Amino acid sequence: MLFLACVLLMLTREMPCLASSQSPSLVAPAGASNQTRNEELEALLTWKSELDSQSRYILSSWNGSNPCSWRGINCDPCGRVVSLDLSDSAIHGTLHYLNFSLLPNLVALKLANNSLFGNIPPSMALLAKLTHLNLSQNGLSGSIPAQLGSLRSLQVLELSYNNFNGPIPNEICSLSNLTGLFLSANKLSGFIPREIGRLKSLNYLLLVNNHITGPIPSSIGNMSSLIMMRLSENQLVGAIPSSIAHLSNLNYLSFRMNKLSGPIPSSISNLSDLNVLHLNRNELSGFLPLEINNLTSLTVLQLDNNNFVGQLPQEICSRQALEHLTAANNRFIGPIPRSLRNCSSLHRVRLQYNLLKGNITDALGVYPYLDYLELSNNELYGELPPTLEECRNLTSLIISNNRISGIIPPQIGNMNQLHRLNLSSNDIVGEIPKDLGKLKSLLELSLDGNYLAGHIPQELGALFDLQKLNIAGNNLSGSIPTELGECSNLLFLNLSGNNLDKSIPVKIGNLQSLQVLDLSKNFLMGEIPGQFAQLHRLEILNLSHNQLLGSIESTFANMVSLTSIDISYNELEGPLPNVSAFRNATIEVVRGNKGLCGVIASLNPCAATMSEGKNKNKKLLLLLIPTLGCLLMLLLVMGTSSIVCRRLRKLEPSSKDGSNENSWAVLNFNGCILYESIIAATKEFDAKYCIGVGGHGSVYKVQLQTGETVAVKKFKEVVEVKISSRKAFEREIHALTEARHRNIIKLHGFCSSSRYSFLVYEFLELGSLKDVLNDEERITAFDWNKRVNVIKGVANALSYMHHDCSPPIAHRDVSSKNILLDEQYEAHVSDFGTAKVLQPYSSNWTSFAGTFGYAAPELAYTMEVKEKCDVYSFGVVTLEVIMGRHPGELISSLAFSASLSSSNSTTSCWPLKQALDQRIAYPNGDMLGQMAFIVKMAFTCLSAKPEHRPSMQQVSQEISAHKSIMIGTSEDIKLEELVDPGCFSY
Ligand SMILES: *[C@@H]1O[C@H](CO)[C@@H](O)[C@H](O)[C@H]1NC(C)=O
Ligand SMILES: *[C@@H]1O[C@H](CO)[C@@H](O)[C@H](O)[C@H]1NC(C)=O
Repeated sequence: MLFLACVLLMLTREMPCLASSQSPSLVAPAGASNQTRNEELEALLTWKSELDSQSRYILSSWNGSNPCSWRGINCDPCGRVVSLDLSDSAIHGTLHYLNFSLLPNLVALKLANNSLFGNIPPSMALLAKLTHLNLSQNGLSGSIPAQLGSLRSLQVLELSYNNFNGPIPNEICSLSNLTGLFLSANKLSGFIPREIGRLKSLNYLLLVNNHITGPIPSSIGNMSSLIMMRLSENQLVGAIPSSIAHLSNLNYLSFRMNKLSGPIPSSISNLSDLNVLHLNRNELSGFLPLEINNLTSLTVLQLDNNNFVGQLPQEICSRQALEHLTAANNRFIGPIPRSLRNCSSLHRVRLQYNLLKGNITDALGVYPYLDYLELSNNELYGELPPTLEECRNLTSLIISNNRISGIIPPQIGNMNQLHRLNLSSNDIVGEIPKDLGKLKSLLELSLDGNYLAGHIPQELGALFDLQKLNIAGNNLSGSIPTELGECSNLLFLNLSGNNLDKSIPVKIGNLQSLQVLDLSKNFLMGEIPGQFAQLHRLEILNLSHNQLLGSIESTFANMVSLTSIDISYNELEGPLPNVSAFRNATIEVVRGNKGLCGVIASLNPCAATMSEGKNKNKKLLLLLIPTLGCLLMLLLVMGTSSIVCRRLRKLEPSSKDGSNENSWAVLNFNGCILYESIIAATKEFDAKYCIGVGGHGSVYKVQLQTGETVAVKKFKEVVEVKISSRKAFEREIHALTEARHRNIIKLHGFCSSSRYSFLVYEFLELGSLKDVLNDEERITAFDWNKRVNVIKGVANALSYMHHDCSPPIAHRDVSSKNILLDEQYEAHVSDFGTAKVLQPYSSNWTSFAGTFGYAAPELAYTMEVKEKCDVYSFGVVTLEVIMGRHPGELISSLAFSASLSSSNSTTSCWPLKQALDQRIAYPNGDMLGQMAFIVKMAFTCLSAKPEHRPSMQQVSQEISAHKSIMIGTSEDIKLEELVDPGCFSY
């Protein structure tokens, strides 16, 4: 009977206490003494009452007199509160009102992943029985109180992903039972306490991503229980202490991204269980100790970006365990390690930018799992072994800038996972094998700078995904195969410096994504195909040093994106088209032709036809106004300055100040007509044409009389710009209208009168990304492919504005509202830079002086920060696209403040599978992998520290190359790890 009761008691924790009571009694249910219980109740309820209403709602079970049944509370058999676990509960508040002195029995306090702020009250030291404290992933700040050192029972202390600053208190070193110390992703500074070696029970020491300085104390050698030590992403200096040799249980050691110097101590060979060794991105130098060969359990060895010399460890894969080897950017000499030949476990190898010398033919074996192989910029020679084809999982094969000879083995055509094949700048001979046309996944094919001869195989036309084709600087002959016109995703095509002849195939004009086209230095003949007029996205065009004939005016008039052109040394004649690429060019780009004339200053004006030309232009003007796409032609209007619209006077006779100085426009086409037609078409901005309201004003859909539709953003207040500043202002708006990119909405211009100020944009059918995500009826059409494409588009747009524009332009307001989608679900980022240009002008001109185009170096720094703001916003938008809703809470509470690899991956988990937008079908394997990659990248973009976020250029390149994973600091995380457990470790 008594026994039964005991069992019952163990099962239900809310019965009277037997276990710890001295004289067990079933008669008087004493439980926790009423006093204890009341105190615990009071402590918890007081805390609750100081939380915000949402948190109180989450804790609505917290009422009544029995805390043991409340959410997150556990009691011991005596009914005493021993555990408070509200992890992942969206609690918002501080710890200040939690009276720890009233919770003396607490063993575990787990509040991870909430929105706690403020500091840790030193009174927490009163929790004398506490063994587990987890406050990670909050917004806590201040220093880590030294008083925590009196929590002598503490076994696990987790404070990662907060904003703690100051040093790690020495007192922590007296927590002799501590097994886990997790302080990653904070702002901790100062030295690692010298006495840290006293933590003899410690298994896990994670201090990743802080500002910790000073040397690694040699006392770490005393922490003989350590299994994982990660001190990466700090500012540690000095040598790696040789005492690490005593850490014989160590499995995972990361010192990456510090400023450690000196050689690797040879005693490292004692770490015989070591699986992971990250020493990359330091200032380490010298020869590798021979003993490193004894680390035969290594699966990951990262030595890249140091100053090592001498040979790579030859026996590093003697036990076939090695998966990742990176040693790039050092000064290693000698051959590729011989043990790599049979190292079938390899997944990823990066040895580029060294001085490796040796015959590649014997060095490479068969690697069934190999995903990425980069050996570029070394001195490797020999021929590519045909057995490469057996590396069936290889996605990137990059061996540029070596001395590889022989032919390209046709067997490479069987490597059907290959995304990037780059063999440029070698001594390769023979023909381009037509088998390469079988590489259906190929995104990049670079074979430039070799001795390839023969014809370009027409089979390459089957590479539908190809984005970059570079076969320049070879001895290729014959004509350009017309099939290349089928590679409709090509962004970059370079066939220059060969012996290609005949005329340029008309179909090249079909490559509408093309941004760079270089056909120079060949023997191409005939006219430039009129179809080139369709290359609206072309930015760089080089046709120089050929034998091309005829006139180019009409062909190039519509090349609105063109920024650089070279048509020198051909047999072209007639007027140059009035596009900015020519207007801004020097005579060099047209030199050596038959008779070109026009816009370039030092070129002969087209004398005979000048007035005729003007009239023609006027006619054209009238013709082109309906087609807003043909804007650049009309830039000559802008060539002068602003347009003070005479006809506007009639329209606004009652201008308040009586002058018309306020009526003006900056437009890529005839602003006067547009101003009037917009006013007319909207019946003076009648609400019924309004399609959206934002912070600065309203957006109208305007159907012009010509049938064209534009979007007009009318500002709430008239933008006033002093006459003296107007020129500069116009230059800025003009710069924005000239920023041409397929993923940036076209800004046609700006109009202002004393009554209205507005921007005129192209109109996109689907509206904003936010609208599309909220449209439940059509959400199924917005499938994963389209979503990935939207993310890519946004990345490309931001990368373009940050890195390809001079000066760089930051958006500052990237959100799903500002990303518009066209009918093909292609993303167009809107409002680029306008916030920046307009706000300062409308309020106070002086505050703006100097920041645009004349930025002082110190301002350049703030500019950089602004760009990193865009990177952050991009991370949010990316998660929003994948989750189907704004990730709001997730972000604020998780405070993903650092890269994935930089914290304790064993305790934190983000369920990717659940987070995916459930309204559309679950993605298939490939897509899921891509999703995992993109989410991981989004997380790095959300790093709290701007300097830890990747640049948009990195992001855009990585997404385009979608399999290679090098974002930020997370290069050693495998996709499988991310996807497989159905959750994200970060
Ligand atoms: C505890 O409080 C309850 C009512 O609040 C009372 O009935 C009971 O007698 C008290 N027990 C002790 C041991 O004070
Ligand atoms: C530390 O752990 C040991 C062994 O588990 C235990 O006996 C001891 O009481 C613990 N120390 C403290 C202060 O809790």
